[in-house]
Amino acid sequence: EGSNEQASSLLGFSAIPISTDDTVKIAAGYTAAVFAPWGTPLFADAPAWKTDGGGDAAAQARQVGDNHDGIHFFPIDGSSAEGLLVVNHEYTTVEGGNYIWLFGAKGGKPWTADKTAKAMNAHGVSVIHIARNSAGKWEIKPGSRYNRRITASTEMVLTGPAAGNDLLKTKADPGGTRVLGTLNNCGNGWTPWDTYLTCEENFNNYFGTTSGNDSRTAAQKRYGLAAKSSDYRWEEFVDRFDYAKEPNESNRYGWIVEIDPFDPSSTPKKRTALGRIKHENAACALSADKRVVIYMGDDQRDDYIYKFVSEGIYQEGGDNSALLDAGKLYVARFDDGRASDDFMGVGVWIPLDKTANATLAADARFASQAEILVNTRLAADAVGATKMDRPEWVSVHPASGEVYVTLTNNDKRAAPDAANPRAANIYGQIVRWREAGGDAAATSFEWDIFVLAGNPVKYTDRGDLKSGSANITAGNTFNSPDGLAFDKAGRLWIQTDGKYSNSGEYEGQGNNQMLCADPASKEIRRFFVGPRECEVTGITFTPDSKTMFINIQHPGEEGDSHWPDGGDSVPRSSTIVITKDDGGVIGS
Ligand code: FEO
Ligand code: CA
Ligand code: CA
Ligand code: CA
Repeated sequence: EGSNEQASSLLGFSAIPISTDDTVKIAAGYTAAVFAPWGTPLFADAPAWKTDGGGDAAAQARQVGDNHDGIHFFPIDGSSAEGLLVVNHEYTTVEGGNYIWLFGAKGGKPWTADKTAKAMNAHGVSVIHIARNSAGKWEIKPGSRYNRRITASTEMVLTGPAAGNDLLKTKADPGGTRVLGTLNNCGNGWTPWDTYLTCEENFNNYFGTTSGNDSRTAAQKRYGLAAKSSDYRWEEFVDRFDYAKEPNESNRYGWIVEIDPFDPSSTPKKRTALGRIKHENAACALSADKRVVIYMGDDQRDDYIYKFVSEGIYQEGGDNSALLDAGKLYVARFDDGRASDDFMGVGVWIPLDKTANATLAADARFASQAEILVNTRLAADAVGATKMDRPEWVSVHPASGEVYVTLTNNDKRAAPDAANPRAANIYGQIVRWREAGGDAAATSFEWDIFVLAGNPVKYTDRGDLKSGSANITAGNTFNSPDGLAFDKAGRLWIQTDGKYSNSGEYEGQGNNQMLCADPASKEIRRFFVGPRECEVTGITFTPDSKTMFINIQHPGEEGDSHWPDGGDSVPRSSTIVITKDDGGVIGS
């Protein structure tokens, strides 16, 4: 009830309760429709979805991939009725070396070359030409020249300062510039020049060795490569995923990849100037002098928040194709500038630069700036950046330029600090900052905690930090904020990827969900709840803000969902199209 006590001019809908049902729930006056689930045919010659999940590798290459995540709508000629929907396919659900659902209920045993190829084709990105039909319903245009599947085998190039560096050379690519595929495409971004940025997150999970020997380097351990076999088991059939056979292949993932969705024959570009981390998303802003600024989180317990500031200036309508190839990379330090318990402070952006940073200039582990970019995490460790509670999505307020980041949780945090104020943080928080002078290229900022997620149902003493900050109530409690995006009007949409047991520490929180916040009043209301064992992730709007697209990822990741097809069907990740029944702006 508490979530509706304060009327917010920005939030025009009534909050909904939690749900533990195997279906989607949405605020009154809205409709949520399933769109382009995993396995949907994308081309005129694409095989139909096999309802038992038994399609082969060749079929998967012509169909929508698995585990939808970041998503962006590129309007065609500014239209809100036709455009290109670009969707990330982050991963396929595996546990203990077996696949859950990719091969239907049968799992991945016995493991074969065709199953490896199917898994590789389920990854990557889909470009989907969509339009509203005469009844106003969104549909795929299956024969469109724009439709495209990018997979873990699609040819791409490395560009920028690290391209061609020895650390990026392999037997198949002695020049160190040509890579096959993109992996673990998590969150996303888009540029003012209408390109898509797909972010490679947990690339480490795809590398292992069949040799039986743990021969990992310090850098490979810092990035989390498996000591022996990987859960995905690709190394058994594709040599480049065996780090003992091809030690540099894993260095060719963990990048932000720029894609031109309007040119289906274009080669995706891995932009090394933006650093190599477990990239969550890429939030773009322009500095006061029109340089491009990209904010980025590295999603790991105790990892960091980064920003890239381009050397060149954005030219509206001009050639911006090299802007992401030259610039400065920074990592954030959050300092406790004031009283220790006020959840506010100041911060600085530390340059990860072989020349400008004396610590890195003296560090023999990095022979050049290229090596800093390949082993960005090691450089950030060396300069004293602030270890955060798993940085996920970043979003920039459309009017003020204030920057918000979800810190999803960190159950292993030992020592609290100002911006990460709880040990064993199971609920997560959203931190925001204001760049000095309101300039995205500034090297210092002020920050505060927008919301400390918590559970006042379980922890009724509001002095206990586990109950959450004052804007958390029994009516809007959630855990593990992850997806995050502002709409044009400045509403902040918050998506969760957390525990859905609805018991114990998570009592009263239900399935994963999407909430909406007013940045000024800090009020938060629940708008949408997903089906069982899913996360809610990815968000984009048509230019008129009247259609919202989000994704349901990994429904039934532990086996308990048959969404969206029902019965005893194989659960499928899917996009959800949200419209307001009166045709109005979403959230208004
Ligand atoms: Fe792919 Fe950190 O979420
Ligand atoms: Ca995420
Ligand atoms: Ca997450
Ligand atoms: Ca995920």
